[in-house]
Amino acid sequence: MIFVKSLLKMLKIIFLYVILICSSCMNDATKIQINSPSKNIGIFIENNQKITYHVKFNDKIVISKSSLGMLFKDGSKLFTDPVIINVIEKNNDEVWELPWGEVKKIRNNYIEKTISIKDTKNSMLVDLIFRAYNDGIAFRYNIKNVEKGNDTIIVTDELTQFNLQSDAEVWWIPSYSKNRYEELYQKSSVNNMDTSHTPLTIRYPDGIHLSIHESELIEYSSMQIFNSGNNQLNCDLAPWKNGDKVRTQLPFQTPWRTIKITHSAKELITSYLTLNCNKPSKIEDFSWVKPSKYIGIWWGMIIGKWTWGEGFKHGATTKRGMEYVDFASEHGFDEVLIEGWQSGFKGLFPKDSVTVSFTGRTLDFDLEKVQRYAQSKNVSLQAYHETSSGTQNYLSQIDSAFSLLNQLGIKNVKIGQVGSRLDHTEYHYGQYGVEYYRKVLDKALEYKIGINFHEPIKDTGERRTYPNMLTREGARGMEYNAWSGGNPPSHTTILPFTRLLNSPMDFTPGIFDLLFENIDADVKVEFPVSFTVIDSGNSYNDLSFISDESIWQRKEMSVDTLRLGDKNIYTWEIIQNCQEGEWEWGVVADHWLLKSYDIWLPQLIDDGSNRKFKVSSSGEVSGQTKIIIPSDKLDLTNVYFSKIKEKVKRPRVSSTLSKQLALYVVIYSPLQMASDFIENYKKVPAFNFIKDVPVDWDSTIVLNGEIGEFITVARKDKNSEDWYIGSITNEQKRSFELNLSFLNKGLYKATIYSDNDSSDWETNPLEYVIRDTFYTNSNIHLIKLARGGGQAIKFEYLLTQ
Ligand code: NOJ
Repeated sequence: MIFVKSLLKMLKIIFLYVILICSSCMNDATKIQINSPSKNIGIFIENNQKITYHVKFNDKIVISKSSLGMLFKDGSKLFTDPVIINVIEKNNDEVWELPWGEVKKIRNNYIEKTISIKDTKNSMLVDLIFRAYNDGIAFRYNIKNVEKGNDTIIVTDELTQFNLQSDAEVWWIPSYSKNRYEELYQKSSVNNMDTSHTPLTIRYPDGIHLSIHESELIEYSSMQIFNSGNNQLNCDLAPWKNGDKVRTQLPFQTPWRTIKITHSAKELITSYLTLNCNKPSKIEDFSWVKPSKYIGIWWGMIIGKWTWGEGFKHGATTKRGMEYVDFASEHGFDEVLIEGWQSGFKGLFPKDSVTVSFTGRTLDFDLEKVQRYAQSKNVSLQAYHETSSGTQNYLSQIDSAFSLLNQLGIKNVKIGQVGSRLDHTEYHYGQYGVEYYRKVLDKALEYKIGINFHEPIKDTGERRTYPNMLTREGARGMEYNAWSGGNPPSHTTILPFTRLLNSPMDFTPGIFDLLFENIDADVKVEFPVSFTVIDSGNSYNDLSFISDESIWQRKEMSVDTLRLGDKNIYTWEIIQNCQEGEWEWGVVADHWLLKSYDIWLPQLIDDGSNRKFKVSSSGEVSGQTKIIIPSDKLDLTNVYFSKIKEKVKRPRVSSTLSKQLALYVVIYSPLQMASDFIENYKKVPAFNFIKDVPVDWDSTIVLNGEIGEFITVARKDKNSEDWYIGSITNEQKRSFELNLSFLNKGLYKATIYSDNDSSDWETNPLEYVIRDTFYTNSNIHLIKLARGGGQAIKFEYLLTQ
């Protein structure tokens, strides 16, 4: 990967045009207007005993009169008697270069006015800084108090509004839930929305889209948005445990409050306003920052096949680490992520938050050996630090943890903060969390380590200032498909327009075993074990065996009937291949006559405990392999069962296989994982796309897209003339004609990985076709997407015409 050598050098070559237009003293101006450079957006600020603003987009009001202000714990209020005393205007037009990203260059063009206000009643001095861009607006408060100096001050509320001109549709996720940002999006009218995280995406009936968010979130608490009726939207700040919102010192400034304003959903994605509001890079030499493609020892723990903690199912063993390194090296991956090698981390969240060590390893994992082996094959480990939300434990070890990574030559670390509160008390997105994540980022910069946060603080564009802030898993990622409910097909068609606006995500795509049929595939030595259930006259139906040996997947048992006197005796049986170890099992059954379904048989018969059995290394089986249902009438009163016969929802990934490939283009991340077990990639032709697709781009074009329905993204590789396309849909099948005029002049070989006519996420997810064709930029390509499907294309540049 070629990196531009230093930001300073880059800044010299970019076109920088910043002029101070005027600095004038005013005597209480009451109306101030700021037009964007191309005059499509206007911001109107008024002082009418209170300070308000409204915004027009092509002469239409998109933000109606909205108040600004703040409340402090000492009882003072901003603004009580405001007088505008000065206005300074500035134009900015520059192009800056990203060290890595979805595009190489970004234009930062705006007109800014700094409005100095004296609040005469409480003798506060405040600068309101407004910027009008061609794709939205930004503003922030800069609270100074020259008279009181550096006093501590506590903000109890920020009274910023973002009022809408009429009701509109909104895509939102609830704040203050225990899963942080990992929620499914809901769509409603703004007046029916609960308090929601940002970015908050809104669509007016005429198709104008807004995204309300914040930028440069430092030493402050995150902004959520709540509706107060009548299309009024308000800032909500995440509180500390005692209710304070922000604890700070004068002078201080708030993050930028940002509103992207576009004609269409797809333009929201290529508006870089959030990034533009951040400061340029803190470092000049970022050649050590390493975007990468990786595989990992992880999915096995998520699916229940391996464990994080030690034991015979431990995932992170030296042997497996080396096997994964071999695979990575053979297939051109840069890194192998290995979770569960830290001593004291057993996957017992949140108990591990105080016991986990970030330098100690489990006895069966030789970190040095695996990393040395990896380096000898041009691969590296990506470290994993699971803090379990114990930030104090983590910060107390962070220097030794990062020094160890330096010593070992490990460049990137994924850091998890699983848990509903940090240190059991504070929100991840309150000021406590904001400051914690920034401390980690600063430390990582000091040690030259790239960061991938899981359970993060939301992205507010820090990567411009910290080129080592690579990516995060801050939305429901792939892992939710292994757990109850999963992600519906529409989920990935909403994320790019909402949570992921300018925010890279380590979604961990690339599951090929979509139905979890091969999760046992790598087990080499197994022994057949027969399990029997004898039902002597109670007539249970549809018995299914479930065991941790087969990762709690339901397996149907087969039945034989024997007539004994006036009774039918049913013998249900299943033979399972089991590996050495100690295992548990049980059975669920239906009773059609009693209209009772999914009955947990161990509970029906006794106390509900799982049955236990053991397989020795030579295949001898001991323990409980038989269940007898007595012939007496059984009482269902205290037994768990369902009254409705529901189709059992087995966990699975709700997508077609080619949609998994398309996600590598649709969801941008400088760290992209191929998340499945390596055996599921061996000899699978579709894997070639994952091997080829870059993680660093020269340019990005969103060809089409509607929130929650479909999206098609084209990206050009930074290091070649090749282009890639990813196109995905929700539960609907659809087709589009794509005009390929964005390609360079010349001939391309297009390798197309697509759904087949009979592919369908529900009924036929694994079927796909690969075909090659040749295209120039005057061709039209027809994309056909199955229900829950996708298409991925590599355009390999062959020659100039
Ligand atoms: C919870 C995360 O969701 C999961 O991805 C991770 O593997 C575990 N924490 C352990 O770190």
